[in-house]
Amino acid sequence: ALCGVVALDGPSGTGKTTAARRLATELNAGYLDTGAMYRVATLAVLRAGVDPTDAEAVVAVVRRTRIDVATDPSAPRALLDGTDVSVEIRTEEVNRAVSPVSAVPEVRELLVSEQRRAIREAVDNGGGIVVDGRDIGTVVVPDAPLKVFLTASADVRARRRSAQDMAAGRASSFEEAKASVQRRDHLDSTRATSPLRAADDAVLLDTSDLTIDEVTAKLTELVEGRG
Ligand code: C5P
Repeated sequence: ALCGVVALDGPSGTGKTTAARRLATELNAGYLDTGAMYRVATLAVLRAGVDPTDAEAVVAVVRRTRIDVATDPSAPRALLDGTDVSVEIRTEEVNRAVSPVSAVPEVRELLVSEQRRAIREAVDNGGGIVVDGRDIGTVVVPDAPLKVFLTASADVRARRRSAQDMAAGRASSFEEAKASVQRRDHLDSTRATSPLRAADDAVLLDTSDLTIDEVTAKLTELVEGRG
């Protein structure tokens, strides 16, 4: 069993989310998908008809929106003002708008404090939690005992994203997926506040040539101190 925090960061398409959920299930731990929180915030912004690059208007929407993410790894649910939007937050429209929304410092402040509250609750209850994001090891929980930064080549990430999209019934081509993934990673890595980057003490794990089972096994080894 895990009784602390595992911080998992990296760009999209590295197998991070799937491996994080499996790891949490195996360890009987909680799972916090911080990307889902930024996605719910973005969906609220789009539904309000607000321009995602209008920081002031974005903050106003996010302030009045209730964003809840369930921490059960077997049933990850994202709620916007109490309504399940787990499917709606995965559209290409949200993919396009999420980077500008999550680059706004006040949006990050609001969500990071909510993330820290959820993490503290899990740890206080004696359980552990696997936290999946971009800035978990650098900003949200800089004292996490285990930080892993997942990477993968751009082609592999695009292939995985495209396969996920098709499995979920969304139209997708490799070229579109590649452009979308690269654009978002570039924006996330170059923003001023909490850019996507590995913490100095993170373990780097290149998943390009690994299956999801292998990524999960590697993470389990690291948690058990065998890595
Ligand atoms: O993990 P996922 O791809 O669902 O994340 C969606 C977006 O949310 C990322 O591209 C990034 O812009 C933002 N994000 C973030 N910080 C996190 C998690 C996600 O800025 N901790």
